[in-house]
Amino acid sequence: MVKIAPSILSADFAALGAEVAEAEASGADWIHVDVMDGHFVPNITLGPAICAAVRAHTSLPLDVHLMIEHPENYIADFAAAGASVITVHAEACVHLHRVVHQIKELGLMAGVAINPGTPAAAVREVLADVDLVLVMTVNPGFGGQAFIPRTLHKITQLREWAKEMNHQGLHIEVDGGIAEATAPLVAEAGADVLVAGNAVFGRSDRAGAIKAIREAADN
Ligand code: DX5
Ligand code: ZN
Repeated sequence: MVKIAPSILSADFAALGAEVAEAEASGADWIHVDVMDGHFVPNITLGPAICAAVRAHTSLPLDVHLMIEHPENYIADFAAAGASVITVHAEACVHLHRVVHQIKELGLMAGVAINPGTPAAAVREVLADVDLVLVMTVNPGFGGQAFIPRTLHKITQLREWAKEMNHQGLHIEVDGGIAEATAPLVAEAGADVLVAGNAVFGRSDRAGAIKAIREAADN
């Protein structure tokens, strides 16, 4: 069974409370919170204050995806804002092992993300330490982009490594261009957490959208 994590990047930012409450009522498993700083990615979104505001409107885990430089400076703030999972980019961390443990010491699930141009091997040395690997299936920065199929083999590779090291509980998350058509591909490769922005918040029937992605993945 996959988890579906709607990304609020595609929600109505002026009505975030209602949007996340509706996503929860529509069957979402996690709420994906995209944090962008205008440096690591060419877009700016939200910070800890908005994250805390969202926290008050849902009981679902908040899956915070930090697309920022120097994420180590903001981990405590997002933990205080109610994050359940904090994912940092391998490309943004000179001391990735230290940052992963910084997240874990706060009692949160620690994730590490890799861009489409980054090999799976970039996370191998921390694989035993993390709870989640996020394989970006688009270049981060914007919602509504097309899925990059070349990323699929990294999911397969990571699932194999996790099995080899007896880390069966490792979550492999995918983010970007996930919809009914691409969900079966990533689930088949071994992903178990599917982020969907446009495919959920871009539709008026959120429950129908989540159900369609889930069924496509689980079949
Ligand atoms: C991309 C973000 C994604 C984005 C996905 O930079 O990390 O979470 O919201 O959006 P869709 O599902 O529309 O590709
Ligand atoms: Zn994301």
